[in-house]
Amino acid sequence: MAEILAVGEAMERALALLEAGDVVAIPTETVYGLAGDATNGVAVARIFEAKGRPRFNPLIAHVADLAMANRIAEFDPLSTKLAGAFWPGPLTLVLPQRAENNMHPLVTAGLDTIALRMPRGFGGELIARLGRPLAAPSANSSGKISATTAQAVEADLGGKIKLVVDGGATPVGLESTIVKIEDGKLRLLRPGGIAAREIEAIAGAKIVRGAAGIQAPGMLASHYAPGASVRLNADRVAGDEALLAFGRDRAEGWRGAVAVRNLSEAGDLREAAANLFAYMQALDRSGAATIAVEPIPLDGLGEAINDRLARAAAPRDKID
Ligand code: TXA
Ligand code: MG
Repeated sequence: MAEILAVGEAMERALALLEAGDVVAIPTETVYGLAGDATNGVAVARIFEAKGRPRFNPLIAHVADLAMANRIAEFDPLSTKLAGAFWPGPLTLVLPQRAENNMHPLVTAGLDTIALRMPRGFGGELIARLGRPLAAPSANSSGKISATTAQAVEADLGGKIKLVVDGGATPVGLESTIVKIEDGKLRLLRPGGIAAREIEAIAGAKIVRGAAGIQAPGMLASHYAPGASVRLNADRVAGDEALLAFGRDRAEGWRGAVAVRNLSEAGDLREAAANLFAYMQALDRSGAATIAVEPIPLDGLGEAINDRLARAAAPRDKID
């Protein structure tokens, strides 16, 4: 099983493992990441190996500061503005790579663009100390729900990695929002921890939704599948189902449900996002064959929450 060290005591051990080309699970403000040196092909390969990803999806390269980001990718004025407003934070920018930027090609799966993000907290400090960017997908086996606690990482990947850095429950609870910037236009590749309208307010421009072709290959329909099947927009619950609730009004029959978790009693979408993955995991463990989900509004962070739930509910033949 993996060693679990609190953020306050993990820095030197994490650095030693990364220097040696090994992988480490680290907390970020969004979800836990499975991190490896993005300039080291063996380290990046170990990430795919530990996750059991059937294909080499491109990974996000995490940076410590803008100077590091600028050495990797070409920033136009709009990207610079968004990075200035939201970094460190849950925004990932897909930008054109610079030639000879030292990134191992496995990080980007050979694409000429790269996804960059500056994380808050321990991850940022770790990258600054290492002096090199960290490639880090969410720290979960391929096709499983992203981990928002060190215990969830250990339960899923503990047999495959040496160290989990414990920073407690991640505050945002959803992956970063991914935006691609092309010819001064913004395209939403994945809704996430920053609402699209917050980005639009800073950019002074609309975000185009819907990727042309598969631009974020990790976004396959059933990427977030729990073991149980998932039924959305439920207004009643059967006695053999678990209920994922939202707000004050309960679906009919809720008292008879196998288990109930409420994402946010107060109907707060930020609180709901932070609870989403842990509650899905808890309801999955309840043994119910189906998780019924109450309707969740689409505005603000509701877009990302509904996106993840729709993926969890998708047919399982497309598991990534
Ligand atoms: O919050 C997050 O973003 C977390 C934490 C650990 O930072 N990371 C994360 O990574 O969610 P991952 O690998 O699970 O998701 C990265 C997504 C995938 O859907 C991938 O296909 C997409 O980013 N992506 C990466 N590089 C890309 C590129 N050059 N163009 C388009 N999509 C890209
Ligand atoms: Mg993921």
